[in-house]
Amino acid sequence: MDRTFVMVKPDGVQRGLVGEIVARFEDKGLKLVAARFEALPEKRVNDQYKEHLEKPFFPSLKKYIMGGPCFLMVWEGRNVVAIVRRVIGVTNPQEAAPGTIRGDFGIDIGRNVIHASDSPESAAREIAIHFKPAELCSYTRIDESIIYEY
Ligand code: RTP
Ligand code: MG
Repeated sequence: MDRTFVMVKPDGVQRGLVGEIVARFEDKGLKLVAARFEALPEKRVNDQYKEHLEKPFFPSLKKYIMGGPCFLMVWEGRNVVAIVRRVIGVTNPQEAAPGTIRGDFGIDIGRNVIHASDSPESAAREIAIHFKPAELCSYTRIDESIIYEY
Protein backbone atom coordinates (compact mmCIF):
# COMPACT_ATOMS: atom_id res chain seq x y z
CA MET A 1 0.00 0.00 0.00
CA ASP A 2 1.04 3.60 -0.64
CA ARG A 3 1.51 6.28 2.01
CA THR A 4 1.39 10.08 2.01
CA PHE A 5 2.19 12.91 4.40
CA VAL A 6 -0.66 15.31 5.25
CA MET A 7 -0.64 18.27 7.65
CA VAL A 8 -3.39 20.56 8.92
CA LYS A 9 -1.69 23.97 8.91
CA PRO A 10 -1.97 26.46 11.82
CA ASP A 11 -5.02 28.23 10.32
CA GLY A 12 -6.85 24.92 10.03
CA VAL A 13 -6.02 24.07 13.65
CA GLN A 14 -7.08 27.52 14.90
CA ARG A 15 -10.38 27.26 13.03
CA GLY A 16 -11.24 23.92 14.57
CA LEU A 17 -11.06 21.97 11.30
CA VAL A 18 -8.90 19.02 12.43
CA GLY A 19 -11.85 16.73 13.15
CA GLU A 20 -13.66 17.59 9.89
CA ILE A 21 -10.47 17.01 7.87
CA VAL A 22 -9.64 13.69 9.54
CA ALA A 23 -13.24 12.58 8.95
CA ARG A 24 -12.99 13.27 5.21
CA PHE A 25 -10.00 10.96 4.83
CA GLU A 26 -11.52 8.31 7.10
CA ASP A 27 -14.80 8.46 5.18
CA LYS A 28 -12.93 8.02 1.89
CA GLY A 29 -11.61 4.71 3.21
CA LEU A 30 -8.02 5.76 3.78
CA LYS A 31 -6.15 4.43 6.80
CA LEU A 32 -4.47 6.67 9.40
CA VAL A 33 -1.09 5.15 10.26
CA ALA A 34 0.58 8.00 12.21
CA ALA A 35 -0.33 11.38 13.73
CA ARG A 36 1.23 14.08 15.90
CA PHE A 37 0.08 17.51 17.13
CA GLU A 38 3.00 19.95 17.45
CA ALA A 39 4.55 23.29 16.56
CA LEU A 40 7.10 22.60 13.83
CA PRO A 41 10.75 23.54 14.47
CA GLU A 42 12.40 25.77 11.87
CA LYS A 43 14.66 23.02 10.51
CA ARG A 44 11.76 20.73 9.63
CA VAL A 45 9.87 23.60 7.97
CA ASN A 46 12.94 24.30 5.81
CA ASP A 47 13.31 20.59 4.98
CA GLN A 48 9.61 20.18 4.27
CA TYR A 49 9.51 23.14 1.89
CA LYS A 50 13.08 22.91 0.55
CA GLU A 51 11.98 23.40 -3.09
CA HIS A 52 10.58 26.81 -2.07
CA LEU A 53 13.55 28.12 -0.04
CA GLU A 54 14.49 30.72 -2.67
CA LYS A 55 10.94 31.70 -3.65
CA PRO A 56 9.74 35.24 -2.85
CA PHE A 57 6.84 33.86 -0.80
CA PHE A 58 9.05 31.61 1.39
CA PRO A 59 9.48 34.07 4.33
CA SER A 60 5.71 34.53 4.63
CA LEU A 61 5.12 30.77 4.13
CA LYS A 62 7.55 30.00 6.95
CA LYS A 63 5.97 32.57 9.28
CA TYR A 64 2.55 31.08 8.51
CA ILE A 65 3.58 27.47 9.11
CA MET A 66 5.44 28.39 12.32
CA GLY A 67 2.57 30.57 13.55
CA GLY A 68 1.00 27.84 15.70
CA PRO A 69 0.67 24.11 16.16
CA CYS A 70 0.01 21.79 13.20
CA PHE A 71 -1.61 18.36 13.01
CA LEU A 72 0.70 15.95 11.15
CA MET A 73 -0.55 12.69 9.70
CA VAL A 74 0.44 9.77 7.51
CA TRP A 75 -2.39 8.19 5.51
CA GLU A 76 -2.24 4.87 3.70
CA GLY A 77 -4.24 3.47 0.78
CA ARG A 78 -4.04 2.42 -2.84
CA ASN A 79 -2.83 5.41 -4.91
CA VAL A 80 -3.20 7.57 -1.79
CA VAL A 81 -0.90 10.41 -2.91
CA ALA A 82 -3.05 11.33 -5.92
CA ILE A 83 -6.33 10.70 -4.07
CA VAL A 84 -5.38 13.03 -1.20
CA ARG A 85 -4.25 15.80 -3.58
CA ARG A 86 -7.70 15.64 -5.20
CA VAL A 87 -9.47 15.64 -1.83
CA ILE A 88 -7.56 18.76 -0.68
CA GLY A 89 -7.95 20.67 -3.99
CA VAL A 90 -5.56 22.96 -5.88
CA THR A 91 -3.12 25.27 -4.06
CA ASN A 92 -5.16 28.48 -4.41
CA PRO A 93 -8.43 28.08 -2.45
CA GLN A 94 -10.10 30.62 -4.78
CA GLU A 95 -9.67 28.13 -7.62
CA ALA A 96 -10.18 24.93 -5.62
CA ALA A 97 -13.40 23.11 -6.48
CA PRO A 98 -16.28 23.09 -4.02
CA GLY A 99 -16.23 19.79 -2.17
CA THR A 100 -12.46 19.89 -1.76
CA ILE A 101 -10.98 20.92 1.60
CA ARG A 102 -9.35 24.08 0.22
CA GLY A 103 -12.43 24.82 -1.91
CA ASP A 104 -14.73 24.55 1.08
CA PHE A 105 -12.63 26.20 3.78
CA GLY A 106 -10.13 28.69 2.33
CA ILE A 107 -9.86 32.00 0.50
CA ASP A 108 -6.20 33.18 0.36
CA ILE A 109 -3.35 31.08 -1.14
CA GLY A 110 -1.22 31.88 1.91
CA ARG A 111 -3.89 30.48 4.26
CA ASN A 112 -4.86 27.27 2.49
CA VAL A 113 -5.53 25.12 5.56
CA ILE A 114 -3.73 21.91 4.63
CA HIS A 115 -0.61 20.39 3.10
CA ALA A 116 -0.25 17.08 1.28
CA SER A 117 2.69 15.48 -0.56
CA ASP A 118 2.60 16.02 -4.32
CA SER A 119 4.26 12.76 -5.50
CA PRO A 120 5.23 9.34 -4.10
CA GLU A 121 8.86 10.55 -3.94
CA SER A 122 7.87 13.67 -1.95
CA ALA A 123 5.70 11.51 0.30
CA ALA A 124 8.61 9.21 1.20
CA ARG A 125 10.88 12.21 1.80
CA GLU A 126 8.35 14.12 3.91
CA ILE A 127 7.29 11.13 6.01
CA ALA A 128 10.98 10.58 6.85
CA ILE A 129 11.38 14.25 7.86
CA HIS A 130 8.57 14.13 10.39
CA PHE A 131 8.23 10.52 11.60
CA LYS A 132 10.51 7.72 12.73
CA PRO A 133 9.77 4.33 11.11
CA ALA A 134 8.62 2.95 14.50
CA GLU A 135 5.94 5.67 14.69
CA LEU A 136 4.15 4.29 11.61
CA CYS A 137 1.55 1.72 12.67
CA SER A 138 0.77 -1.30 10.51
CA TYR A 139 -2.71 -2.73 11.06
CA THR A 140 -5.72 -3.91 9.09
CA ARG A 141 -8.81 -1.72 9.03
CA ILE A 142 -11.83 -3.93 9.58
CA ASP A 143 -13.55 -2.64 6.40
CA GLU A 144 -10.53 -3.04 4.07
CA SER A 145 -11.87 -6.22 2.50
CA ILE A 146 -14.99 -4.37 1.35
CA ILE A 147 -13.37 -1.03 0.40
CA TYR A 148 -10.96 -2.74 -2.03
CA GLU A 149 -12.11 -4.99 -4.88
CA TYR A 150 -8.90 -7.05 -4.70
P1 RTP B 1 1.56 22.37 0.04
O1 RTP B 1 2.99 22.02 -0.35
O2 RTP B 1 1.50 23.28 1.26
O3 RTP B 1 0.70 21.16 0.15
O4 RTP B 1 0.90 23.23 -1.13
P2 RTP B 1 0.95 22.92 -2.68
O5 RTP B 1 1.80 21.72 -2.97
O6 RTP B 1 -0.44 22.91 -3.17
O7 RTP B 1 1.65 24.23 -3.22
P3 RTP B 1 3.21 24.58 -3.29
O8 RTP B 1 3.50 25.11 -4.63
O9 RTP B 1 4.04 23.43 -2.79
O10 RTP B 1 3.33 25.79 -2.27
C1 RTP B 1 3.52 25.58 -0.88
C2 RTP B 1 2.70 26.57 -0.09
O11 RTP B 1 3.25 27.85 -0.22
C3 RTP B 1 2.21 28.82 -0.20
N1 RTP B 1 2.27 29.57 -1.44
N2 RTP B 1 2.13 30.85 -1.51
N3 RTP B 1 1.94 33.55 -2.43
C4 RTP B 1 2.16 32.56 -3.31
O12 RTP B 1 2.28 32.75 -4.49
C5 RTP B 1 2.25 31.20 -2.79
N4 RTP B 1 2.47 30.13 -3.52
C6 RTP B 1 2.49 29.10 -2.66
C7 RTP B 1 0.90 28.07 -0.06
O13 RTP B 1 0.55 28.04 1.33
C8 RTP B 1 1.25 26.70 -0.55
O14 RTP B 1 0.39 25.73 -0.01
MG1 MG C 1 3.71 21.50 -2.18
